[in-house]
Amino acid sequence: MSDRNLKVLLAARPNGAVKESDFEVVEADMPKPAGGEILLRNRFLSIDPYMRVRMNEGRSYATNLQIGDVMVGDTAAEVIESHNPDFKIGDTLVGRLGWQRYAISNGVGLRKVDPASGPLSAHLGVLGMPGVTAWYGLLQIGRPVAGETVVVAAASGAVGSVVGQIAKIHGCRVVGIAGGKMKTRHVVDELGFDAFVDHRSPNFVRELTAAVPEGVNIYFDTVGGVVLDTILTLCRPFSRIPLCGMINDYDTTQPYGVQNLYSAIANRIHLEGFIISDHAELWPQAISDLSSWIRTGILTYRETVSPGLETAPSALIGLLKGDNLGKQLVQIT
Ligand SMILES: NC(=O)c1ccc[n+]([C@@H]2O[C@H](COP(=O)([O-])OP(=O)(O)OC[C@H]3O[C@@H](n4cnc5c(N)ncnc54)[C@H](OP(=O)(O)O)[C@@H]3O)[C@@H](O)[C@H]2O)c1
Repeated sequence: MSDRNLKVLLAARPNGAVKESDFEVVEADMPKPAGGEILLRNRFLSIDPYMRVRMNEGRSYATNLQIGDVMVGDTAAEVIESHNPDFKIGDTLVGRLGWQRYAISNGVGLRKVDPASGPLSAHLGVLGMPGVTAWYGLLQIGRPVAGETVVVAAASGAVGSVVGQIAKIHGCRVVGIAGGKMKTRHVVDELGFDAFVDHRSPNFVRELTAAVPEGVNIYFDTVGGVVLDTILTLCRPFSRIPLCGMINDYDTTQPYGVQNLYSAIANRIHLEGFIISDHAELWPQAISDLSSWIRTGILTYRETVSPGLETAPSALIGLLKGDNLGKQLVQIT
């Protein structure tokens, strides 16, 4: 094969907001699979907020990147050469293959996807990690009951858009928090939420309070910051908060300090953090539910697709600022 590989490396650790110069795009020789290995062509790259955390020094729930490492990321890929009897040319897979055009793997940790089950890109979004995160956090931790009020942050994004729609399927009243007019309209008009609040509004606290006149039973938190702090004052006794992410604090050197945590005691709020990769045993059930909801038309999804691997840095920078609607992807080939 005469093609060359293309990779995006971590060039520098961001100090505050990530910028293009924190990445380096390099050409490299084609990787050569050895016995037991496969060569994969990455078709789509998933752009996820956790990538920003991995660019920092130290460790969070997983080991962070070193300078010069290929940026971490899940891709949807196809097998183009196989020396492993478990994989054949043309198989489509999802795995943590990184920000690069081609990758080799021994197959461990790869998930085969059936091309008939939906577009390949969907296996990085609604039928992949973000969709399963929404399913798990809402149903296993939030435990919605029909008639309850569910508030969803980053409501037009990959996880939030699915959370709100699953809550509607379970008969809840859903309030979506998103940034700007276009996104807030989207969550009501296209996703079917009952109400929206714009977290960029100067009257955010007043508008959020007005949107939940009976208080909050479940708050699905993906942002932390002032949104979480305000919601804590609006939670009903015995409410639930799946703590899924804190994007407010990822791209800054000044994390927000939550002030209203006493409400968790006064209202006996169940707050539970989770990392979806800990729950591999529930992925098949989650993906089966999500697929059947899509088939029956009660779950819908959007993708924002950036063209070419070279655009991956700007896609991540944009995601952290809120440029995406639905799942942010990069089309590699
Ligand atoms: N625990 C897990 O296993 C797990 C798995 C997947 C994702 N997550 C977390 O879930 C969250 C969402 O991930 P995603 O992939 O679905 O991303 P996403 O929602 O598709 O994109 C991120 C969105 O966050 C919003 N945002 C950024 N800064 C904000 C702020 N300060 N306040 C409020 N909203 C802000 C932006 O939307 P607006 O324009 O609306 O502001 C942006 O579009 C992240 O925190 C991520 O780390 C956790």
